[in-house]
Order: sequence, then structure tokens, then C-alpha cells
Amino acid sequence: MSAEHDKKFFDTFMLVLGILIGIAVVLYFLARNVASNTQEQHVITDPANQTVVAERIAPVAKVAIAGQDNSALAPVQAAAAAPAAELGGEEVFNMACMACHGAGVAGAPKFGDKAAWGPRIAKGIETLHKHSIEGFQGAAGFMPPKGGRVDLADKSILNAVDFMVAGSK
Ligand code: HEC
Repeated sequence: MSAEHDKKFFDTFMLVLGILIGIAVVLYFLARNVASNTQEQHVITDPANQTVVAERIAPVAKVAIAGQDNSALAPVQAAAAAPAAELGGEEVFNMACMACHGAGVAGAPKFGDKAAWGPRIAKGIETLHKHSIEGFQGAAGFMPPKGGRVDLADKSILNAVDFMVAGSK
């Protein structure tokens, strides 16, 4: 009875084990099949993809060896940023200064307000030019350098000052 019982248990156990191994093998091949399709051959051989990969795996440093031709290691000169184009005074005023000087926000002298501009114009246009480029902390408030538009050319900012001064005399 006991031996027969053991045999039955053993058979069932082996069957279950066999099924589990079978499932594992099926999963193994399924996984391989799925993984092999994620990087199709034409993606791997795509020149654009290869360039990107080459960039990613490029060595972070190169070593120059004394007595050998190291000219290939010369640092590449980054192309100089194109100088910002000069813009007209009104254009610059509208995009960079009006936010504050249009309505007189935060103590900014309002465009066309003769009383507010009079004493400032009296300081001389040189001073106003300087303050517009470098920024200015006055009694009324803070004028950020270039009105916050440091990307604009100095000349463009000066044009805007001239435009505001001319319109507020
Ligand atoms: C964030 C707000 C703000 C922006 C944007 C701004 N200004 Fe001003 N500006 C001020 C304030 C505030 C003052 C007054 C400072 C004071 O006298 O206390 C001022 C003052 C000035 C003055 C007078 C400086 C002096 O010496 O009296 C000039 C000139 C000027 N701004 C030019 C410009 C120009 C040009 C632009 C645009 C490119 C510009 N501002 C953009 C806030 C601003």
C-alpha cells in the first residue's frame, strides 16, 4: 500500500515537474523571440543611429603622446556665436521694455511721462545708456541689466533708450 502510494505521488510529482520545465522552456524561447525583434537590423545599421551610438561610446578623454603627431587632438574651436543683430528702438522697447516702462510697473519711469523722465534725462544720455546696459538700482526701483534681455545687442538696448527718451521729452 505504502509503496504503491509512493509511486503514485512520484508519478504526479514528475508530471508537474515536467510541465513546469516545459513552461520554462517555452518562456525562454518566447523571451528570446521578443527581444530579438526590438532592434531590427535596419535600425542597427542606420547611419544616423550609428553616429549617435558612436558619440555616446566615444572616449571621454584623449591622450597626447610626446614626440608624436598630436594635431588631431587640437581642441575644436567652437563656432563663435553670431553677434546679435542690431534692432530698432521701438521694436526693442515693445518686446523688452514695455512690460515695465509701458505702464510704469515697479517704479519704472513710464514712457511719455515727462515729469518722470525730466530729471533722468538731465543726468545725461551717457548715464542713461550706462544704466540700461549695466542695470540700475535707484530710489524708485530696480532696473535689470538690459531690461532682462541680455541676449540683445548693446546697440539695440541703446536704441530703445533713445526711443524712450525721445518720446518722453
Ligand atoms: C523689470 C522691469 C523693467 C524692465 C523690463 C525694463 N526696465 Fe528700465 N527701469 C526699471 C525701473 C524700476 C527703473 C527705475 C529705477 C530707479 O530709478 O529707481 C528703470 C529705469 C530705466 C532707465 C533710467 C535709468 C536712470 O538712470 O534713471 C532707463 C534708461 C531704462 N530703464 C531703460 C530701459 C530699457 C531700454 C529697457 C528695455 C530694454 C528697460 N529699461 C526695461 C524697470 C525696468
